[in-house]
Amino acid sequence: MTPTLTPHTLPQPVLAGRDFLSNLDMSAAELRAVLSTASSMKRGEWKQVKPLAGLSLALVFEKSSLRTRTTFDVGMYQLGGHAITLTNAEIGLGTRERVSDVARNLERWVDGIMGRVYLQQTLHELAQHASVPVINGLSDMLHPVQLLADYQTIEQELGSAQGKRVVYIGDGNNLANSHMHMGMLTGSRVTIVTPVGYEPNGAVLLDAVRSGADITLTNDLSAVEGADVLYTDVWISMGMEAEADIRRRAFAGYQVTPQMLDTIAPDGIFLHCLPAHYGEETVPEATEHPKSRVFEQAENRLHAQKALLYHLMGAMQPRW
Ligand code: CP
Ligand code: NVA
Repeated sequence: MTPTLTPHTLPQPVLAGRDFLSNLDMSAAELRAVLSTASSMKRGEWKQVKPLAGLSLALVFEKSSLRTRTTFDVGMYQLGGHAITLTNAEIGLGTRERVSDVARNLERWVDGIMGRVYLQQTLHELAQHASVPVINGLSDMLHPVQLLADYQTIEQELGSAQGKRVVYIGDGNNLANSHMHMGMLTGSRVTIVTPVGYEPNGAVLLDAVRSGADITLTNDLSAVEGADVLYTDVWISMGMEAEADIRRRAFAGYQVTPQMLDTIAPDGIFLHCLPAHYGEETVPEATEHPKSRVFEQAENRLHAQKALLYHLMGAMQPRW
């Protein structure tokens, strides 16, 4: 029988009051605590508790979203709290109103802010001016909440991520950067395969290499062979639409196909953060391939983010 937690048996929140702008905002031990909570939530052990009762989270969107919006909203509801979605058409972050003033208003009403933004700097500005936790729900630089769900999926499917070969193929974008951070935190062996000129962020790479993480950058497609995890993301991220044609040409050949999946490890898995641009970075037959875990991964967005919200906000008392 699934053990059910009570208010007296909840784990200690390990990130109380912190911001989460990057995966490196938690230590390896804190990541373990968050992923363990995520698995316990997925097993249904948190059904009887409402640890965020009376707390509210603002969801600020400069860009579109299906998964991030739905999972934060449903996640707050399931934990007993409440979410309010604010689109940029409504609040005009930095245009209708200064980012710092948005932060100084929101902190008076809500207990946390999730931001999906163009610039990582906008998140730092929100965090600097808001006394409540700020969570990165994707920026041009990083997508750390996605990687929590990704590593929950990897560990669920393959056991410990340590030493596993995680091969990311495609654009050296926000996902690629966050993958390097997870290599630093978990000891996975991360390979980033991109066309020439589309390599990931140099500062993130330098930090990762200096930390001793096992990171390989290459333009060579044969690096995919034998991967434990093959991961891809869109070639044209939100905000890059003007470069679509030039990018489609540059990335030709870097598409994940069922034939490519046949070359990864026999028990290897295929992950994609979604949305997929079929015909570009992948094809529907790859999503449907027996090695694909992309919808399991999407489900884990809910569990991983609920765990994050609990560890960030679980020690707060309602202010009203
Ligand atoms: N993977 C992801 O963040 O999906 P959305 O853009 O739909 O939120
Ligand atoms: N790299 C993509 C991820 C979408 C979830 C983007 O930034 O649009």
